[in-house]
Amino acid sequence: GTSYHIAVVPGDGIGREIVPQAQAALQKAAGGQADFIFDDFDLGAERYLRDGSILPDDELDRLKGEDAILLGAIGDPRVKAGVLERGLLLRMRFELDQYVNLRPTRLYEGVSSPLADPGRIDFVVVREGTEGLYAGAGGSIRRGTPQEVATEVSINTAYGAERVIRYAFRLAMSRRRRLTLVHKKNVLTNAGDMWQRLVDKVGEEYPQVEREYLHIDACTIFLVTDPGRFDVIVTDNLFGDILTDEAGAVVGGVGYSASGCINADGTYPSMFEPIHGSAPDIAGRGVANPTAAILSAGMLLRNLGLEEAAGRIDRAVEEDIRELGSTRRGTDQVGRDILDRI
Ligand code: IPM
Ligand code: MN
Repeated sequence: GTSYHIAVVPGDGIGREIVPQAQAALQKAAGGQADFIFDDFDLGAERYLRDGSILPDDELDRLKGEDAILLGAIGDPRVKAGVLERGLLLRMRFELDQYVNLRPTRLYEGVSSPLADPGRIDFVVVREGTEGLYAGAGGSIRRGTPQEVATEVSINTAYGAERVIRYAFRLAMSRRRRLTLVHKKNVLTNAGDMWQRLVDKVGEEYPQVEREYLHIDACTIFLVTDPGRFDVIVTDNLFGDILTDEAGAVVGGVGYSASGCINADGTYPSMFEPIHGSAPDIAGRGVANPTAAILSAGMLLRNLGLEEAAGRIDRAVEEDIRELGSTRRGTDQVGRDILDRI
């Protein structure tokens, strides 16, 4: 079979425990269809605390040559907030131009939702990945004084918004053909208006896709009162971040939420990661649930065009959750149980 170079960045906390499970699933699911050469990258808090490096340029260059990246989690209480998030995670998303942050949300059979009557939940949030308030524009003056001024500027380019909107329409065409733009155009009149115009423009090319618009605040309500209405949600970087945490909670916890940071042009590798964090409170105890990491490995396979292998992971996880989802199991046990079904 074809060989693929996969960068492995376990990162911090439980990331180091769940990533090996995802690697095993990847290998088994691909069977003889493909070989994976795993290239380990020692990036994250341990590395930073040891030698002060966050993402050296030569390692970023090496990442660019990989076929895909499997990431665990980034973040550690010993490191000041923002250092690794911005310096490592966001730097990778930006430098690798991963402009689509794809976050599927499904309520699996066997998982209990905190909603009394959740109904069928199956939607995808297409979160913009390289702009918005995450772009790092802004600054602070007179820091620490009573006259301090701090700004964070949301960067929205027509180019950046249009490409992610196009991706969302294409995705909607392969699904239930319903697209929801989420923004706050009643207040954020510059960016909101631009996003809406671009959705309308691109939407004309997709007359089969039904479009709606929701303000972010209203959307957070519908996500708990009527989640079944959603198929594809397209939104900016920060709104998408917040919505996908809420979405994770609605489908029983972020332990089942996978994501892909996609460079849809194929210029640079895409990166696959669970949406949960490094969970330092439970790290090192072998109790973290590797399901989201394994589902992320499935997304990685799909991204490489290995659709059958991806389907094997999805089905194995579905079965595992349906039959054993409510039993208390350690990381290795869940990994083994899923692996057995692949
Ligand atoms: C996520 C995380 C990151 C984000 C943080 C850690 C920078 O919350 O992947 O959702 O905000 O994108
Ligand atoms: Mn988040």
